[in-house]
Amino acid sequence: MAHRKKLKFGAIIHGVGGNISAWRHPEIPADASVSFPFYVQAAQKAEEGLFDLVFIADGLYINEKSIPHFLNRFEPITILSALAAATSKIGLVGTLSSSYSEPFTVARQFASLDMISGGRAGWNVVTSPLEGSARNYSKAEHPSHDERYQIAQEYLQVAKGLWDSWEDDAFVRDKASGVFFDPAKMHRLNHKGRFFSVEGPLNIARSKQGQPVIFQAGSSESGKDLAAKEADAVFTGQELLGDAKAFYRDVKDRAVAYGRSRDDLVILPGIGPIIGSTEAEAERKYEEIASLVSIDKALDYLGRFFDHHDFSQYPLDEPFPDIGDLGSNSFRSGTDKIKQTAKEEGLTLRQVALRSATPRGAFIGTPEKIADLIQQWHEEEAADGFIIHSAFPNGLTEFVELVVPILQRRGIYRTAYESDTLRGNLGVPIPANRHTVARSQAAAF
Ligand SMILES: Cc1cc2nc3c(=O)[nH]c(=O)nc-3n(C[C@H](O)[C@H](O)[C@H](O)COP(=O)(O)O)c2cc1C
Repeated sequence: MAHRKKLKFGAIIHGVGGNISAWRHPEIPADASVSFPFYVQAAQKAEEGLFDLVFIADGLYINEKSIPHFLNRFEPITILSALAAATSKIGLVGTLSSSYSEPFTVARQFASLDMISGGRAGWNVVTSPLEGSARNYSKAEHPSHDERYQIAQEYLQVAKGLWDSWEDDAFVRDKASGVFFDPAKMHRLNHKGRFFSVEGPLNIARSKQGQPVIFQAGSSESGKDLAAKEADAVFTGQELLGDAKAFYRDVKDRAVAYGRSRDDLVILPGIGPIIGSTEAEAERKYEEIASLVSIDKALDYLGRFFDHHDFSQYPLDEPFPDIGDLGSNSFRSGTDKIKQTAKEEGLTLRQVALRSATPRGAFIGTPEKIADLIQQWHEEEAADGFIIHSAFPNGLTEFVELVVPILQRRGIYRTAYESDTLRGNLGVPIPANRHTVARSQAAAF
């Protein structure tokens, strides 16, 4: 086996969960999505498990059919800033939309989180799949999928440029001479592009990890391309080993084509481990959650990926309906996959809805079996690590207490944090300040 970096782990903290009906489970606090103590406890548990990061997902449009967690939850930057004070090593990653925000504000927010946390901030750049977002942001229409990714490309150029506004030794703060900063080390961006016009400089300097870590979670062609070009880390929803390997190779190859090294970005598939002391107990736990989901709720859940399309109009036990290219302007990679699987496997609408709303996933069984699968995915280059979500009240605790020690004994997971920055733990490079680089290159001639 070629030398591999040790496994990386993230934990999605999402209150009552991504499962549409898990809030009804007797052990899940029904107000978890807006309970600060719940978030603190989860972040501290992930830190106890030496996870690289906690992740707060987000979206910008809800309606009556949205899942309970989406209806009433914290805004990511706000909760992460509070979690910064309750933790000391773990990375703090949040979603923020590049389609419905301004780069100057967002660059500043993440730079502030990065400074507050001592270099632990990460930004999951999403292009916002939901059309309804436009109606919440005073826009006449939702930009197309392609345009959203073009906006994201330029947006990231602007944000990264703003983050380099100040060279690392720009702030002299010499009380005796009265010199607060060196003007030669303050830089205006003067960006004028197709979508943004930003002069700069940003009114905050770089943290000790240089710039916040960029995450990307779209798996469409445009999403993979943006990840390969700009991201330090990638979340993906691949559920099968073969698909995950193909995705991994594809994104790393694209990164190399952009002149980057394969190790410059880490790929983290999302998994929802279901852990039991026996296989039968794990299965029982799955059934316990799955049985809470009614077919009506499952249809609502499925509909959201297709811009809240109403699937209740179709017969349940007939083949998945032909809905044309519906969904391709929202969660494109996900909706393409649902349509393709339904066709290939000849699934009915009921089967598709239940599979989406109550995913079983491969990572179900005893702690040893989960550890085996994690090791296999890592060794076979399907993953550099995983982002863990759990539909169960104590799923994260079980993972930390039962699976982590096995991975540590096998020598494939850390036994102490290597660093106190997110870049340091993920093993991704600190971007040098572009102006400092230019200055030293000029000095060399
Ligand atoms: C682990 C993981 C986390 C994600 N988090 C978010 C999120 O917080 N907000 C969001 O709108 N989409 C999220 N997504 C979805 C993607 O970011 C993206 O919006 C969606 O897949 C559509 O992009 P695509 O058409 O390029 O695939 C997530 C996906 C994965 C796998």
